[in-house]
Amino acid sequence: KTQCPKPPQNKDLTRILHPLRCIWQAMALLPILEYPDPRLKKVAAPVTSFTPDLVRLVRDMAETMYAAPGVGLAATQVDVHKRVIVIDVSETKDDLLVLVNPEIVAAEGEAECEEGCLSVPGYYDKVTRAARITVRARNERGEPIERTAEGLLAVCIQHEMDHLIGKMFVDYLSPLKRARLAARQRKKQRLAG
Ligand code: NI
Repeated sequence: KTQCPKPPQNKDLTRILHPLRCIWQAMALLPILEYPDPRLKKVAAPVTSFTPDLVRLVRDMAETMYAAPGVGLAATQVDVHKRVIVIDVSETKDDLLVLVNPEIVAAEGEAECEEGCLSVPGYYDKVTRAARITVRARNERGEPIERTAEGLLAVCIQHEMDHLIGKMFVDYLSPLKRARLAARQRKKQRLAG
């Protein structure tokens, strides 16, 4: 097993400018569903046409992810049940990867990495996944993409693709850990009213 490497510590001007860019653009932040919302278990349908609505969805998902802040977001998490994910694992937050209808065509090795999820705020735990994957997809304009990834990017792609089949990283945990987490979430939701 290999450890998941830390993202590059590259201090770049774009990182400083990013919050400003967000204010300049019309913000359209989407509400994120929280575990154990049953809508997170829905299976997403493939995208069949590449329309301006899809481009808008991808833009809103990216803004929502950056604002959270997070490194990945699946359409399922914003209650849109289409096979669309956005990812940016770069330190500078300027390397957006859009995967529409993603399919993993090769996977090898095993790596354990601590994961978190915007749908389970404040909770992190270790999950074992393939260390290196090749994914085939399209971008929001319908152009084909093929990427081979390892480290944090490989973890993130697998984590987000799981959302599209209604699966969450906490589903890999022991029943005891899941029960504790569900109790914690119920308490939190009670406190929130
Ligand atoms: Ni997630």
